[in-house]
Amino acid sequence: MRRTRIGRGPGRGMSRKDFLKTGGAGLAGAALLGSGALAGCGGGGAEGDDIVFSWGPDDTGVLPKLIEAFNKQSDGFKVTYREMPSDTGEYFDQLRTQFQAGASDIDVIGGDVIWPAQFAGNGYIADLSDRFTDSDQFLPGPMEAMRFEDGIFGVPWYTDAGLLYYRQDLLEKAGFSEPPETWEDLAEQAKKTQQDAGVQFGFVFQGAEYEGGVCNGLEYIWTHGGDVLDPNDPNKVVVESPESVAGLTTQRAMIEDGVTTRAVLQYQEDESHGAFVRGDSVFLRNWPYVYALLSNPDESEIKPRQVGVTSLPVSGGKSASALGGWNFLVNAASEKQDQAWEFIRWMTEPEQLKKNALEGSRLPVRRELYEDSEILDNVPVARLGKDVIIQNSRPRPVSPVYSDISLEMAEKFSASLAGEMSPEEAVATLQEEMSSLVKQGQEAAS
Ligand code: GLC
Repeated sequence: MRRTRIGRGPGRGMSRKDFLKTGGAGLAGAALLGSGALAGCGGGGAEGDDIVFSWGPDDTGVLPKLIEAFNKQSDGFKVTYREMPSDTGEYFDQLRTQFQAGASDIDVIGGDVIWPAQFAGNGYIADLSDRFTDSDQFLPGPMEAMRFEDGIFGVPWYTDAGLLYYRQDLLEKAGFSEPPETWEDLAEQAKKTQQDAGVQFGFVFQGAEYEGGVCNGLEYIWTHGGDVLDPNDPNKVVVESPESVAGLTTQRAMIEDGVTTRAVLQYQEDESHGAFVRGDSVFLRNWPYVYALLSNPDESEIKPRQVGVTSLPVSGGKSASALGGWNFLVNAASEKQDQAWEFIRWMTEPEQLKKNALEGSRLPVRRELYEDSEILDNVPVARLGKDVIIQNSRPRPVSPVYSDISLEMAEKFSASLAGEMSPEEAVATLQEEMSSLVKQGQEAAS
């Protein structure tokens, strides 16, 4: 059932920051460039006109099928899928090491929505604006994330938004006819339902110190009315506020009050969806792909009909989800820019995006697909996604130093959740550290 994971880099016991401090990334990078063994790929670029596409492991299994279909219809070149770490931060570090060395063995990159500003700012990825002429057909949020200065540095593939999954069957039995509107309601429903149904956990989410933990922490801050950067002045850090403190306080209360398990401090997407699909948790915060797993009996012990999906609760603020998603980026050093573009065009045609939506429950990025009744009827997260994406999803800070800002947030959110630092101290330290990073970002951009 579970595929072997590769290149988990620092491993569970060590944070990415510690790993970098010990120089581990340098070593890993050297090994990667030398043998390719760490990437689990056999290294090197593709032969002749063939190209390499990199992306994390696909739990839904749709990507290998799409690549096979591309290769079948292509009479010119073929595409090879190079599997990268599922942790977006570890994947980023591997790419950055390759880019810094000017490596051109990966041609097309399946890239996180938070990367283009940073990679484009360093000249690592190609400006696609001359080729990408129908960008008005795509959703504005994901498109916005592809722009840097005057260029467009990626083509959206699918978009993500944090969602709340719940066991409708168990909630009903416990006397709750509606999912929670506030985080307090969630805690109450989770505890009662967990006890009544005898399941292991009330709620699971991504609490580990990594990018997914950043998304979760931000959602608590936003849904309590706080923010990290001033929406009217993205160079002004505003994270130190009573609202942010309230957000992080609610989050850590999930552990303190036994709504979730302390193990959540190590949970990424896989561990949290694992608990839910095994039937061990009443609630789950995760991305849309989990819906596809529920329809697959090899992956899930519970069925889609037992599950409801809704937007995240609020407490004082507006419902808000972190805007996630993945995009096609082209390595500026690749000598196969035309082939790269041909593959991207094919992958982002409505037909392929539709397959990804129907089989992978990944939210399409072309506007027209939100009128497609087959998608709307079969992929409830797409129906919901339309509202959640358009109304609620919020980008993480767009910055050429985003990865550094993110490391700080990951560390402080995790320390607050673990009870090692008070929420007050976490936001006060973040205020200071983020302010100096944002300043560096401004200097780097000028
Ligand atoms: C999802 C999102 C991505 C985010 C990541 C965090 O893959 O699409 O944007 O950075 O989760 O784990």
